[in-house]
Amino acid sequence: METKRFTEHDIKEAAAALRLGNLVSFPTETVYGLGANALSETAVKQVYAVKGRPSDNPLIVHVSDKEMLEKYVDTLPKQAEELINHFWPGPLTLIVPMKKGTFSSTVTGGLNTVAFRMPDNALTLELIKEAGLPLVGPSANTSGKPSPTTAEHVLHDLKGKIAGVLDGGSAEIGVESTVLDLTDSSSEPTILRPGAVTKEALEKVIGNVRIDQHLLSEKETPKAPGMKYKHYSPEVPVWIVQNTPEDWNKAIKWAADQKLKAGIFAGKEILQLFDGPLIEGYSFGMNTVEQAAKQLFSGLRALDETDVELIFAPAFPETGLGEAYMNRLKKAANQKYFKN
Ligand code: TXA
Ligand code: MG
Repeated sequence: METKRFTEHDIKEAAAALRLGNLVSFPTETVYGLGANALSETAVKQVYAVKGRPSDNPLIVHVSDKEMLEKYVDTLPKQAEELINHFWPGPLTLIVPMKKGTFSSTVTGGLNTVAFRMPDNALTLELIKEAGLPLVGPSANTSGKPSPTTAEHVLHDLKGKIAGVLDGGSAEIGVESTVLDLTDSSSEPTILRPGAVTKEALEKVIGNVRIDQHLLSEKETPKAPGMKYKHYSPEVPVWIVQNTPEDWNKAIKWAADQKLKAGIFAGKEILQLFDGPLIEGYSFGMNTVEQAAKQLFSGLRALDETDVELIFAPAFPETGLGEAYMNRLKKAANQKYFKN
């Protein structure tokens, strides 16, 4: 199949492909999604087939506005109303009760709830409107690989397998949306996946919010290495390094002693300190968690294309956006920290 690179001028054509049940990748402020008609079970099944991922995971339904969402929910929880007013369009996914008979279990994973999000990207909002359909949109990568943050990443993984990708440039945030569950009446709203809309930001609007610690625990030992907790991973191993010049120095020296070529994903202030034939650097610019999060997947992909034998990436404090960044990095690193 020829995979087209759609631009802002081709939105009608891209929308027509979606209406026919074909797959079109779309840009968002977080990562690129693999779009398909959420109301067509055949189309959604194709998404799993193309990604090469088992179909037991519920998917996020992307809408162009609140009116579209209201077609698929009986009564919207009050907190959802407030959060939508505050954060949509934006990187916040809300899990709400589903209206019976709307989405198939291929979308919901057999649950009676459904996750909705309105992405903050003008081209994609136009695409959804033009298609007139809610779209599922898991990240548009081959299962297990780092999520795509450019159209090139999508083509690298899925060229020949999908109808097209709508090119919207680089994703601004770089890590997937915050997923917030509003359906458990016995507990506070619960963050199931940390993202750029932080716990603190949510609490300013709706009061107490809980984070599902199970997803975040630092000490948790993977039961089967390389299986459950390893996601977003390049081919070569990733190690987390404490982000001080001393710790970087130890890690880089250790790799050099082993004669291993090391990929260094770091801020430019750090990269300036190191050089040599056994180093391949990828600078994410200023040494901030915002920059690191924005380029994490891109950096892992780029370093993986070189001849490095391992990748070092920095830890940031697990607060604010650091929660989301560390959640993804720990999965990429299979929880491994470099310790001298
Ligand atoms: O930023 C994003 O959210 C990206 C971009 C493309 O929009 N999309 C994305 O979609 O990451 P997806 O479908 O891969 O996200 C699925 C996540 C999973 O962690 C899943 O467990 C959770 O959303 N989820 C979806 N529906 C759920 C439900 N009914 N109950 C609990 N979790 C749900
Ligand atoms: Mg994904």
